Amino acid sequence: MSKKPVQFRLNGADKAVFVDDGQNLLDVLRRGIGDFAPKYGCGQGTCGVCTVLIDGEPYLACLTLAETCEGREVQTASGLAPGPELHPLQKAFMEHFAAQCGFCTPGMLMAAKALLDRNPQPSREDVVEAIGGNICRCTGYEPIINAILAAASAAGRRPA
Ligand code: FES
Ligand code: FES
Repeated sequence: MSKKPVQFRLNGADKAVFVDDGQNLLDVLRRGIGDFAPKYGCGQGTCGVCTVLIDGEPYLACLTLAETCEGREVQTASGLAPGPELHPLQKAFMEHFAAQCGFCTPGMLMAAKALLDRNPQPSREDVVEAIGGNICRCTGYEPIINAILAAASAAGRRPA
């Protein structure tokens, strides 16, 4: 099997990897680079636990060919809080008990980040739609929706 060199930015850092033909981004992130925030669930685009941002848009890493990330900016939940402070979404998830087993949480956080980046004051319906592809087996969704709305309103109260 032939290997291809691919370079991209991951959470602000340059990465250069060799990928197999047809290798997906999730596999490269987890096995190749060691970023285990994006999870492997269904492997076929139906659960959302592998959600990452590519150039600010949410993508399912299990369905994204790694070679298509050449020159692009990939963000995972590992990069949400580069310092000791939690990202506001992480803080809201914690405060609103939006994570139980936590398996869906990294994907939920990235889907929520994409939403708040493009729409800082979403309606409840916007939030429901934004996480519509992300399955949670534990929380029943209400705490997650409430956490995302709380993060949005906390950001709205922050001085510019
Ligand atoms: S592992 Fe990617 S959508 Fe389920
Ligand atoms: S917190 Fe367990 S799957 Fe969502």
